[in-house]
Amino acid sequence: MYSREDIDRVRAATNLVDLVGAVTTVKRSGRSYSAVCPFHQEKTPSLSLDPIRGLYHCFGCGKGGDVYTFVQETQGLDFNEAVEFLARQAGIQIESDPGASRRRGEHEELVEAVRQAVRFYQKTLRSSPEAGHARAYLRGRGLGAEAVDQYEIGYAPETDSWDALVRTFRTEGIKDSIMMGAGLAKRGRGGKLFDVFRDRLLFPIHDLRGDPVGFGGRTLSERGPKYLNSADSRIYQKSRLLYGLNRAKGDIARTQEAVVVEGYFDVIAVNQAGVNTAVATCGTALGEDHFDLLRRFTDRVVLVFDSDQAGAGAALRGDTLRTPVDLDFDLRVADLPGGMDPADLVQAGRNDDLAKAITDSRPLLQFRIEKEVRRHRITEPEGRARAIRNTSRLISRVSDPIARSEYVRFAAKEIGVDTAIIENALRGQAASPGPGRGEVEEASLDPIQAELIRVLLANPKELSEIDLDRTWVHDQLADLIEVIEVARQGAPAGSPISLDGLPHQELVQRLAFDTRPLPANPIEVIQRAEGKAIERQIKAIEIELLALDPASQEYSERLRRLLGLQERRRGHE
Ligand code: UTP
Ligand code: MN
Repeated sequence: MYSREDIDRVRAATNLVDLVGAVTTVKRSGRSYSAVCPFHQEKTPSLSLDPIRGLYHCFGCGKGGDVYTFVQETQGLDFNEAVEFLARQAGIQIESDPGASRRRGEHEELVEAVRQAVRFYQKTLRSSPEAGHARAYLRGRGLGAEAVDQYEIGYAPETDSWDALVRTFRTEGIKDSIMMGAGLAKRGRGGKLFDVFRDRLLFPIHDLRGDPVGFGGRTLSERGPKYLNSADSRIYQKSRLLYGLNRAKGDIARTQEAVVVEGYFDVIAVNQAGVNTAVATCGTALGEDHFDLLRRFTDRVVLVFDSDQAGAGAALRGDTLRTPVDLDFDLRVADLPGGMDPADLVQAGRNDDLAKAITDSRPLLQFRIEKEVRRHRITEPEGRARAIRNTSRLISRVSDPIARSEYVRFAAKEIGVDTAIIENALRGQAASPGPGRGEVEEASLDPIQAELIRVLLANPKELSEIDLDRTWVHDQLADLIEVIEVARQGAPAGSPISLDGLPHQELVQRLAFDTRPLPANPIEVIQRAEGKAIERQIKAIEIELLALDPASQEYSERLRRLLGLQERRRGHE
């Protein structure tokens, strides 16, 4: 995309020693330079630099290249981005095709607006009298001024007219369309522009280049969702962003391991426990695009969730869960003490426990087998049979024969049976259709939906008058709700419905045999599921609205639906 001349000009203006020195230790002896290689783990430098030609080569791991490959590999950029990055560093203007530079201009303008918003919110947090409770909240969660600065945390105020940011931005000449395009403001019913974030603590989210592109906002008023994240926009796509990756990427590449946690506070907590490779998704499940992003730096990923969720892999809530084997990732799980997330642990002063849990991570499959075995009473024949069946079902997805036989041995040992028994069960699995790809597992369910289905299977009397609604669950499970609706007509209220003939057998079996007590109040479970469903629909419409012309028929139709849903949400509160 860039001309040969520009590319060479930028190369000539780039000092390889400085460039490498910014990410690792460089040593000079006479006229030659060597560095601690950032591409593999080592203590003595084996990366040799040739500053004259601008080339490097590692005698330890064999990696080599020029200034562009170095930037590509250490920062996860593609070639064009690397050229742009180094051109910017060298202060050189380069020419690309006009379409690209116009697009870049718009991109820059949106990013600049977010950057200004970051400053505005930081300033508000620091000095506004309305931010007293926000400062107290941060102190209460153990975040001092230094961390607040480092992570550029801010506070979005709530004024009566809901437009603190909009007003300030207008005086600074920022156009309404830019504020909306950057996901900072929305147009209300009467055409008035108002702030998207109000009375929320804000974590700026950066793209790989380090540009701020959006926010994750935690409510301080307990109104609305606990976290509100920027809506998808030209610069912000939640499926392709990981909070903290920009900061962590160097260490991820160096240590060849990424730590994935659930929330913004958790990323900071893991950093505070001395591990600088933590990232989090921004209000969405960990999906394939996130893995593609991580793959640029490493193929080992440690999932760190509170232990009630980790086994289920709540992070992999992505509905068409592909197994770790398919993803070709070394996917691991750190087991945290029950019910605690990383932020809770650090808050409790247990930084060492957190760091140790990460160091002691186990492969996801091993973890799930252990968990599966613990779920059943393996001292009883029935329980042992179920443990054998379920663990062999997990193992059946491993395609590598060596890994597979290792897991057979492992499961056999855990259950206390001969390996031949597991192998036998595995052969049985192979003959039966088994769970297909894209099968929804319990693993991919959020807890509210899992609980809902458990309750529906139990078919309590309290629900006999209530019509079931397929929107309460993921689209993929809608058929299950429909079949249950039919099945319960054949079962007396109060007695569990038959599992025969229900779709999603694996999931249904697991949930039906879950030994935890059922929630005391089934109506409440329904209400929670309904509440979530409404939230999901509201979010989806809000995103659609941003893209529509307010004068159009479609817009007013969506708006009517939105208002209806908001009305229902109020009825829910
Ligand atoms: P959690 O509900 O587990 O919250 O959500 P948390 O991170 O422990 O938050 P604190 O400690 O109570 O402040 C985990 C993550 O899920 C997303 C956010 O990214 C959050 O950090 N989330 C949660 C949302 O996007 N929306 C929500 O309403 C809730
Ligand atoms: Mn938390």
